[in-house]
Amino acid sequence: PPHLLSAADLDRDTALHVLDTAARIEQAIGRREVRKLPTLRGRTVVNLFFEDSTRTRISFELAAKRLSADVINFSAKGSSVSKGESLKDTAWTLQAMGADAVVCRHSSSGAPQRLSGWVDGAVINAGDGTHEHPTQALLDAYTLRRHLGDLRGRRIVIVGDVLHSRVARSNVLLLHTLGAQVTLVAPPTLLPVGVGSWPVQVSYDLDAALLGADAVMMLRVQAERMAGAFFPTAREYSRGYGLDRRRHDLLAGHGIVLHPGPMNRGMEITPEVADGVDSVIVEQVANGVTVRMAVLYLLLSGELTPGAA
Ligand code: CP
Repeated sequence: PPHLLSAADLDRDTALHVLDTAARIEQAIGRREVRKLPTLRGRTVVNLFFEDSTRTRISFELAAKRLSADVINFSAKGSSVSKGESLKDTAWTLQAMGADAVVCRHSSSGAPQRLSGWVDGAVINAGDGTHEHPTQALLDAYTLRRHLGDLRGRRIVIVGDVLHSRVARSNVLLLHTLGAQVTLVAPPTLLPVGVGSWPVQVSYDLDAALLGADAVMMLRVQAERMAGAFFPTAREYSRGYGLDRRRHDLLAGHGIVLHPGPMNRGMEITPEVADGVDSVIVEQVANGVTVRMAVLYLLLSGELTPGAA
C-alpha cells in the first residue's frame, strides 16, 4: 500500500490534490452537508504513539472517526520494552489484527519507515524524531494557502530551533515543492549540519528576514532534545530570535503568524503576538483535522500514491 513517510514523497500535483481535497471536505462540513462521511466504514485506523502528542493524536482520531473508521489508540508511554523490539512486535500484533492504516509517532527518526516494512496497512508518519512530520507540513500549507492563495513566490520565514525540528524539515520540503521562498532564521548552533544544501536562504538577522514577509512560522525550542547543543539563556534567545509586537509589525500588512504548537509562551513568541489578530495558530489545529481526513481518505482509497510520481 502507499505510505506517507516524508513530505519529499509529495510532488506538486499530489500535494495540491491533498490540499484541494481537504478544501472540499471543509466546504462540505462548513455547509453542514455532512458531519461524518461513510468513506472508511469497516476500516481500522491505529494511532500508534510512542511519543507524547496532543494535537496530532487527537486530530488523527477525530479525522478517522469523521470518516466512520474504527479507531484504536495505542500509547506506548510507560512501556519498558526496548524500542526496536517493541516496534517490531507491535507491528506484528497490528498486522494480525488487520490494521488498514497505522499512524505512527516515534522519538526515533526512521521508525515509521521501518514499520512500513512490517505491516500491510498504510503507514502515516505522525512525527519521527528530528526527521519529518509531513501531515504538519500539509496542514501548514493548507493554512497558508487559505490566507495567501497560491504560494508560488510567497516569502515564508521559519524561525528557531531548526536543528531539532521535524516540522521545519517537512515544511521546507513541501513549501519548496509549492514554489514558496523559505528563509530560515536560527542561532548558528541550532541549525543542522548540511543546511547549506537545503532549498532555503539562511539568515541570522530576524528583523531583516521579517521585513515584508508573507508569513512567519515560529518553532518550539525543544528543551527535551537539547542535550549537547549549545543553548542560549531564555532571555538571550528571546532577544535574538523571539517574535514580539515590534518584530511582528515588520511583516507585510497581510502577513500571518504560525506556530505548530506546543508553544513556549514568552520564549519564542510573546502571548500578545500568539493571541493577536494575525495569528492563525488555533486555525492550524482546526485545519489539521480536515487535512488528516483528506490524507486518510486518499491513502486508503488508493487515490494517493506518494512517491509514485
Ligand atoms: N504540532 C504537533 O505535532 O503537536 P503535538 O506534538 O501536540 O501533536
